[in-house]
Amino acid sequence: MDAVKKSEELPVLQVSGLKTEFPTPRGIVHAVRGIDFTLEKGDILAIVGESGCGKSASLLSIMRLIPHPGRIVEGSIKFEGKELLRFSKAEMRGVRGKDMAMVFQDPMTTLNPAYRVGEQISESLQVHGLLSGFPKRLLRREREKERAKVMELLRQVGIPSPEHRHLEYPYQFSGGMQQRILIAIALACRPKIILADEPTTALDVTVQAQVLDLMQEINEEFGTSIILVTHDLGVAAEFCDKAAVMYAGQIVESGNIEDVLSSPLHPYTQGLLRSIPQIGQRNELIPIEGDVPDLTDLSPGCSFAPRCRDAYSYCNNIEPPLIVLDNGREVRCHLHM
Ligand SMILES: Nc1ncnc2c1ncn2[C@@H]1O[C@H](COP(=O)(O)OP(=O)(O)O)[C@@H](O)[C@H]1O
Ligand SMILES: [Mg+2]
Repeated sequence: MDAVKKSEELPVLQVSGLKTEFPTPRGIVHAVRGIDFTLEKGDILAIVGESGCGKSASLLSIMRLIPHPGRIVEGSIKFEGKELLRFSKAEMRGVRGKDMAMVFQDPMTTLNPAYRVGEQISESLQVHGLLSGFPKRLLRREREKERAKVMELLRQVGIPSPEHRHLEYPYQFSGGMQQRILIAIALACRPKIILADEPTTALDVTVQAQVLDLMQEINEEFGTSIILVTHDLGVAAEFCDKAAVMYAGQIVESGNIEDVLSSPLHPYTQGLLRSIPQIGQRNELIPIEGDVPDLTDLSPGCSFAPRCRDAYSYCNNIEPPLIVLDNGREVRCHLHM
């Protein structure tokens, strides 16, 4: 009893010192360079940052899906206190889908082209025995319940005429529709964590809002924790509780979303905010000049220094430590020493 109670109090996910690399002919890509964060039950965390900052590599590391020869070289990933980096491949297969489900940017990497979409959703429901105590031999009533659940999921993610479309194959759907099916599959097994990598980028604004609303409902109803990777700070502001801003493989700033957006501490976060349209403001949009650094060849100092308006000589030579401030805020910048 005590053990159960204890596990309930643990954060659902605790990542510390996580480092992931990809050896390439050009050298080693240091995609994730020691990230730390905690996801409490029911948290919705946004991971934001420009393309190439290591957001996808971070999520794939958590799922232990980094493609060979890429590898996690250091750190710890604890799911409800259990170290995932010590799990066998078979144990990890059990975790994926059941405890943690990922919604990818590209739906075709996950959907099986040979099966009807309804079957793919049913399979997810059955694998995890979520419908009842009869996962192997479904009773007729259970079958009907399952069919109803598949229809409900398809309807929830905004697929019109689910009673016909559940019989179709992935290629018969548009990219946006495929993405909604993926989200239905992820939601079907009611995981404890949903890792969503730019899940709505391919969708138009109205559908995007529906999908995010749906995820929010799941979060509220079941206490599902969510990590949402997005480059859209507007989405992050509306949908998330916390934010982690990633730059060059590191989390350079984190905290409650309102704090981070209303008083950004890191010059990179400030730059990101200047580069997006803000409601009620007519300020000119100013893109951050320069490019994200080459992750095979990083300078010894702050990786943002070459693009930073406020950098001084120190910044180019010495890596800034993580500074912990009040209110759960953290920043990696010499200006806040
Ligand atoms: N399979 C791979 N092989 C080699 N390099 C990779 C691979 N996947 C990602 N990278 C590199 O890792 C870095 C981080 O990529 P990624 O996590 O996809 O960034 P983001 O999701 O923030 O756009 C980039 O420099 C990217 O080129
Ligand atoms: Mg990505």
